[in-house]
Amino acid sequence: MQRYDIINHFIQKYRYQSYLEIGTQGDLCMNQVICPIKVGIDPEPVIEKHNYEFHKMTSDEYFKKKKMFFDIIFIDGLHHADQVFKDIWNSLINLNKGGTIVVHDCNPLTDAATVVPYQFMMTWNGDVYRAWLEFRTHPDLKMAVFDIDEGCGVIQRGHQKPINLKMNFLKIPYEFFDKNRVKWLNVLPYEKISEW
Ligand SMILES: C[S@@+](CC[C@H](N)C(=O)[O-])C[C@H]1O[C@@H](n2cnc3c(N)ncnc32)[C@H](O)[C@@H]1O
Repeated sequence: MQRYDIINHFIQKYRYQSYLEIGTQGDLCMNQVICPIKVGIDPEPVIEKHNYEFHKMTSDEYFKKKKMFFDIIFIDGLHHADQVFKDIWNSLINLNKGGTIVVHDCNPLTDAATVVPYQFMMTWNGDVYRAWLEFRTHPDLKMAVFDIDEGCGVIQRGHQKPINLKMNFLKIPYEFFDKNRVKWLNVLPYEKISEW
C-alpha cells in the first residue's frame, strides 16, 4: 500500500472533487491520484509538463496568493518541522468542510532519517513527526498515522484525546519520540482505514 492508495480511498469514499498536493517532484504520486480537480505546487519540480493546474512556487507563496478550498490536501513538501507546521495550519484553513489532510513521512524508523537539513541518504523523512505531534495536542482534530509508506498521517476535523507534550515541539528528542511512538503518533494498521 502506498500514499496514493490512502488518498484515493478518501476521494472515492467521500466523492471528493478537489485535490491539492504540496511538493509534487516528478508527479509519481500525482499521476496515481484520480480526482476531477487536481492542483500541485513545487518550487523545484523535476519535470516541466503537467496535465493538471501546476504552480511553480513554495507552499507559503501559494497560500498567500491563492484563495481556493480543497476536499483533500496531501502535504509532502519541505520536510522540516516548522514548515510542515505551517503547511498543516494553512491546509486546515483551506480545507472544505468534511475534508481530509494526508501528511507523508510521519513515522521515521531511525534517528538518521530525521536529520535536518537533508544530507544524501536513501531514506529521509526529516522531522515531520515533530509538527505532527504538535497537532496531536489539539482536541478538535481526529488524527492517526497509518502504518504504510513511511507513515501516512490523516487529519480530519473531529475529536481526539490530546497528548501532553510538555515541551516545544521543535525540540522533541528522537529517543523520547521513539519510546512513545505508537501512542503519540496514534499508529494504526492499514486495515483500519475503512473506519475513516
Ligand atoms: C518528497 S518530494 C515529493 C514527492 C511527491 N509528493 C511524490 O509522492 O511523488 C518533496 C518535494 O517538495 C518540494 N518542496 C521543497 N520545498 C517546498 C516548499 N516550501 N513548498 C512546496 N514544495 C516544496 C521539493 O522541491 C520536492 O520536489
